[in-house]
Amino acid sequence: MENSTTAKKVMLSGIQPSGELHLGNYLGAVKNWAELAEEFDCYYFMADLHSITVRQNPADLRRRSVSQLAQYIACGLDPEKNTLFIQSHVHEHAELGWILNCYTMFGELSRMTQFKDKSSKNAENINGGLFTYPALMAADILLYQADYVPVGEDQKQHCELTRDVAIRFNNLYGDTFKVPEPYIPKVGARIMSLGTPTSKMSKSDPQGCVFIMDKPEDIARKFKRAVTDSDTENCVRYDPENKPGVANLMNIYSSVTGKRFEEIEREFAGQGYGAFKPAVGEAVIETLRPIREESERMLADKAYLQQIYTDGAKRATAVARRTLRKVYKRVGFVEKPF
Ligand code: TYM
Repeated sequence: MENSTTAKKVMLSGIQPSGELHLGNYLGAVKNWAELAEEFDCYYFMADLHSITVRQNPADLRRRSVSQLAQYIACGLDPEKNTLFIQSHVHEHAELGWILNCYTMFGELSRMTQFKDKSSKNAENINGGLFTYPALMAADILLYQADYVPVGEDQKQHCELTRDVAIRFNNLYGDTFKVPEPYIPKVGARIMSLGTPTSKMSKSDPQGCVFIMDKPEDIARKFKRAVTDSDTENCVRYDPENKPGVANLMNIYSSVTGKRFEEIEREFAGQGYGAFKPAVGEAVIETLRPIREESERMLADKAYLQQIYTDGAKRATAVARRTLRKVYKRVGFVEKPF
């Protein structure tokens, strides 16, 4: 296992275990992580600290944190080559999160789209954590001196804020943090809801959302019902402005098959949406089938998963501790005598 003292660049990302992993998480993020392991020093975690910014059922949160780990591995993240851990097991995240709160401005946090979106959906629980969430995310990234953060399009704004905070801190105290860059895929960075193709796919809209663990028949049904377009053209053509539903399905099909948009247009020329929608569903079913089966197999072996997240937390802590020690010194804390 490599660490940050080697020449390899560092990749880091996380997903909140606040719901089951869905196709957006897979195509926008996890799918792209697996192929990075040889070239980069990779850290991926279950962002459970972030999840409690919205009320969770404790038993479900605990179960999903472990099942998300099984799904990471089933998606191709080899635990020997990637450091996989649960965020709350590395307390340095919460500690650096607090410090970075003091270097992140109210105005910056107020501009975050995710905050505006989540606070409008959870009007009865607009808590401080929901607001300061990006400072914790900055801590997640900066603790590991990450070079790149592989995420979907919706996390770009948080990554940019992380850069601003790192630069601000470095300007005040001298070089402390690597300034990271988001790493966003060309296709699949923004998968939209199958029911409302103008909103991003998210767990809060289960009908428009395909979950990695969904049964094949449920996936097929969701794609058959996918909203295409109100036009009468009935023609598979990439036009995100006027045909967002079809563009989204093409995006999904392209991500799972590797086919380019022109190829897809040719493949379905003269066939219409009636043939296209089930074909996309079928391609997704076949992509997700081995992932679901492998996850289920691993979930039956809790001891194995526990071993993985224990090793992961140890490796992550060793790196995180170094950065936090440096930060404590920089801001003026007395060195801990024990
Ligand atoms: P989260 O948990 O909402 O989403 C996890 C990852 O999935 C991507 N994603 C999507 N990509 C394409 N289309 C979609 N519809 C879609 N929905 C989600 C997200 O862009 C993300 O990459 N704040 C983060 C979690 C986090 C994190 C971090 C990420 C916490 N600390 C440090 C990177 C680095 C979040 O809420 O993602």
